[in-house]
Amino acid sequence: MSGFPAVPTRGFPAVRPRRLRVTPAVRRLVAETSVEARHLVLPAFVREGVSEPVAIASMPGVVQHSLDSLRKAAAEAASLGLGGIMLFGIPLVKDAVGSAGTDPDGILQQALRAVREEVGDDLVVMSDLCLDEFTDHGHCGVLAADGSVDNDVTLVRYAEMAVVQAEAGAHVVGPSGMMDGQVGVIRSALDSAGFTSTSVLAYSAKYASAFYGPFREAVDSSLRGDRKTYQQDPANARESLREVLLDLEEGADMVMVKPASAYLDILRAVADTVDVPVAAYQVSGEYSMVEAAAERGWIDRDRTVLETVTGIRRAGADVVLTYWAAEVAGWLARA
Ligand code: PBG
Repeated sequence: MSGFPAVPTRGFPAVRPRRLRVTPAVRRLVAETSVEARHLVLPAFVREGVSEPVAIASMPGVVQHSLDSLRKAAAEAASLGLGGIMLFGIPLVKDAVGSAGTDPDGILQQALRAVREEVGDDLVVMSDLCLDEFTDHGHCGVLAADGSVDNDVTLVRYAEMAVVQAEAGAHVVGPSGMMDGQVGVIRSALDSAGFTSTSVLAYSAKYASAFYGPFREAVDSSLRGDRKTYQQDPANARESLREVLLDLEEGADMVMVKPASAYLDILRAVADTVDVPVAAYQVSGEYSMVEAAAERGWIDRDRTVLETVTGIRRAGADVVLTYWAAEVAGWLARA
């Protein structure tokens, strides 16, 4: 019995994954996933009838823009090299059919024209194509007599919306209402009106999610009840693939999964299935949760933001819609 410790077996552990983590340089060399400004799309709200931006209490750091402040945000987004901007309009007057959504002078159309004037083709200009911001009941479509959302009547409204948005300058329209057949009617309405180069980014796999909570305040929505008769059940995965494949048959150019963080399995499955660009939307609640925890000092805000966006990219998103787009792009530019 000697008092010496046993000589460790040479070469044990035989494999040392930590070697590839020893310095920042080696970690950078082997990083599989990157986040670049061009991958990011900034969702932006514009409110009719205001001359100054209005804060959104449930989304600290995000505002309802005036047309003027929106122009500045779009110009900044372009100069940061962001991939795009996704516009949402908040009209002064809401009604049962969401008339402001198809008014050529409605706030969203004004915003599209203003932003295109500002950025030209340097930034991909997208518009949310849905009625909920424009209806007084807050649903994504027109209601039938029994109060349900009438799918086929709504499709007619979406077709009109697509054309006015394209006329106003949208490069990409983003139907987000989860009506059956929406991509097909929008594609044919655009084509008939001569907008064959306007793309459709379909919010294909969109779940009925509590994570949209802060968005309600962001667009002054009066929704009572929920959207469970048209948005997907969080318990389901397979129907996401069905929705995505239907949208592609109907002519979608890109597809989206929404929300992002709680649906990374869906995102991965979609990315492995389709041959078009895949987007994911890190929604209002995902944003506000991080902001709230960071405000209390419970997490490191900036690291958490970058980690969530990286995770969404790693799960298969080519494009990430995030309210942090401009801020993240600013960090990347300085890194
Ligand atoms: C529909 C739309 C919604 C969001 C984007 N488009 C709301 C909803 O479907 O309930 C939510 C975005 C977010 O929460 O950040 N116009």
